[in-house]
Amino acid sequence: MDASHVDQDLVNVLFTEKQIQDRLAELAREVERDYADQDLLIVGILRGAVMVMADLARSLERHVEMDWMAISSYGSGTKSSGVVRILKDLDTDITGRHVLIVDEIIDTGLTLSWLTSNLSSREPASVEILTLLRKPEALQMPVEVKYVGWDIPNEFVVGYGLDYRERYRNLRDIGTLAPHVYS
Ligand code: PRP
Repeated sequence: MDASHVDQDLVNVLFTEKQIQDRLAELAREVERDYADQDLLIVGILRGAVMVMADLARSLERHVEMDWMAISSYGSGTKSSGVVRILKDLDTDITGRHVLIVDEIIDTGLTLSWLTSNLSSREPASVEILTLLRKPEALQMPVEVKYVGWDIPNEFVVGYGLDYRERYRNLRDIGTLAPHVYS
């Protein structure tokens, strides 16, 4: 879906489809360089990371394995507690593997902080994070991120996998949601 179909719902388009593709291509070159001669498993965090995974993986000019996890906070409004549970675990044994977690956004940092320590306990060769977006002002937990597409202000963004009540994920661009939509 193009932003023109929901332009009443958006304050602005933060990143166009083209800008996202170009930035992911830059990150892919960094990943290729950093993992040269190493086997690599990229792990997408459902559901928001589907678009980033699909485009990053296709941009990588090398072999890469892909796996997925689904994670949920306990109940509603408990994201800030940092307590999460695994809804779908990896199918892959990551012992001795180089793992790159791929997500579309880091907000408070609680999810990926927890996930990094969970995966690290499985004795992989390495665990790193790639995120398309990060909100430095929202961070509650320090998370070491190897690859960041862009740091953005602490605003409600949708599109390219990011949802508001399960809508807008299929928007090609990333936009700031207008307050009248969620207030
Ligand atoms: C998003 C995103 C991260 C998490 C980041 O997922 O994909 O996993 O939130 O937030 P945090 O830094 O505050 O922990 P979300 O829970 O919205 O699920 P979804 O991917 O299914 O939309």
